[in-house]
Amino acid sequence: MAQGMSSKERLIHRNENYRGKNMREDILEYLQNEIYNRCQKETNKFGMGCYYHIAAVVKNAEILAEKYGADKEIVMIAAWLHDIASITDYSLYELHHIHGAEMAYPILKEFDYDDNKISLVQECIKNHRGSVNLEKNSLEELCVADADAISHFDSVPSLLYLAYVQRGMGIEEGKEFVKDKLTRSFQKLSAESKKYYQNKFEKVMEVLN
Ligand SMILES: [Fe+2]
Repeated sequence: MAQGMSSKERLIHRNENYRGKNMREDILEYLQNEIYNRCQKETNKFGMGCYYHIAAVVKNAEILAEKYGADKEIVMIAAWLHDIASITDYSLYELHHIHGAEMAYPILKEFDYDDNKISLVQECIKNHRGSVNLEKNSLEELCVADADAISHFDSVPSLLYLAYVQRGMGIEEGKEFVKDKLTRSFQKLSAESKKYYQNKFEKVMEVLN
């Protein structure tokens, strides 16, 4: 680190290192706004909870990229875009990983994003679904898929709301529903991420028991 930096400069320097050098903050900022706006529209049948889900995926994807030494920019851009098809058009939900990858191209091209990087982002979107159990070909794909699976643990109140309010379940039924959903999400994680999130899993299950 350069000599003679003020403490503020040092802090900025450290921050840049943490965020990854030359990250396309313009794209990340645009995506955050764009996803927020799309989630707010009436055409989004999943409601605003979906925005908080996507934001939690971005947060966990960044943590995992740091942990595994993956390309943080690719991982975070893909995390913002991974459910874009579902929130934009409900009829695309079933194959949202494929449609989402297609929708990502013109958005990123508009920012003059490098074609090779766009392909990497598209692969992350295509292979993010643990339930479809697609093979993960890169660290970046693994980060996005694992972040998607673990994101439920950051939105336990939404799951409780889904069980008790939206589905009108009783206390026991709702509790089992949420525990089952969380357990299945945890099972989708890679072996390495299971170890990393084990503590979080146990704590959340303890609260629900
Ligand atoms: Fe998702």
